[in-house]
Amino acid sequence: MNRFVFSAMVAAAALLGTPAAYAQQIVIKFSHVVAPDTPKGKGADKFKELAEKYTAGKVKVEIYPNSQLYKDKEEMEALQLGAVQMLAPSLAKFGPLGARAFEVFDLPYIFPDKDVLQKVTQGEVGKKLFEKLEPKGIKGLAYWDNGFKIMSANTPLVKPTDFQGLKMRIQSSKVLEAQFRALGALPQVMAFSEVYQAMQTGVVDGSENTPSNMYTQKHYEVQKYALVTNHGYIGYAVIVNKSFWDGLPADTRAQLEKAMAEATVYANSISQTENDDALAEMKKSGRIAIRVPTPEETAAFRKALEPVYGEMASRIGQDTIDMVLKETKAAGH
Ligand code: LMR
Repeated sequence: MNRFVFSAMVAAAALLGTPAAYAQQIVIKFSHVVAPDTPKGKGADKFKELAEKYTAGKVKVEIYPNSQLYKDKEEMEALQLGAVQMLAPSLAKFGPLGARAFEVFDLPYIFPDKDVLQKVTQGEVGKKLFEKLEPKGIKGLAYWDNGFKIMSANTPLVKPTDFQGLKMRIQSSKVLEAQFRALGALPQVMAFSEVYQAMQTGVVDGSENTPSNMYTQKHYEVQKYALVTNHGYIGYAVIVNKSFWDGLPADTRAQLEKAMAEATVYANSISQTENDDALAEMKKSGRIAIRVPTPEETAAFRKALEPVYGEMASRIGQDTIDMVLKETKAAGH
């Protein structure tokens, strides 16, 4: 047999031998902006593992971490256009889409702990917020935790006035903007992937983020001080392109829903440890001084940030804020 005939046979066999299931394989591109080694990154990997298992390979999930495909703002557009099928943007990133009620999650000190937070996301508020996404061609599948935010800068941070005049990177959120203005700082909206370099070159003086994000983005290498304020929250909505999702065969969709439910339990179960470990690692590095505020210092921050509620009430919707506060009260806070 000459080489040409042999190659032709190999090619034909490859074509004929393609199982029907493989030919119809459904691909879900899941893009995100953080490192794989974070609560969101690990949740995404877990979803991939379970989705491929429960659909017996009919669905292939491709994970694109670290803003490899898109930066913050672009990924939302890509989902709406159908260039990617799944994302898990932080809740702060839905305000610019017009779903302003999501900005309730950005209010300083709104959640006393994760229990209240989870009551909110798993309950009526969480459901209502997802309904607001449907007219935008987006379907919300789950809420994933990251954790509470801490502050960092290159000058010591102890009290609210220490923020005076500091350029602080924020996600694109009017509430976060108001928060830093209330401290006399200069908020700068910037994509997550650009923060390290902005810190290194002095384009910003500091930022707020969760320890897991600060650690995996190496912010502690270019920031001298951190203050464990736990003043705000970062969590995610796992979302899909609605027409893609609705167009899936019903049995496949059910298998993916099961995978998502289990990946959610997993992601939420590791988020606290991931953040605790990241904080410990940053401390261990000796490159950043990490301070925990005293109760009096925390009270000073709460007081300085209180006006943000009044300023933002009409934007977010007082009804949404009240629903969250009701859960806080019901939990005995
Ligand atoms: C940020 O932009 O700081 C975060 O939302 C990144 C993320 O997805 O955790």
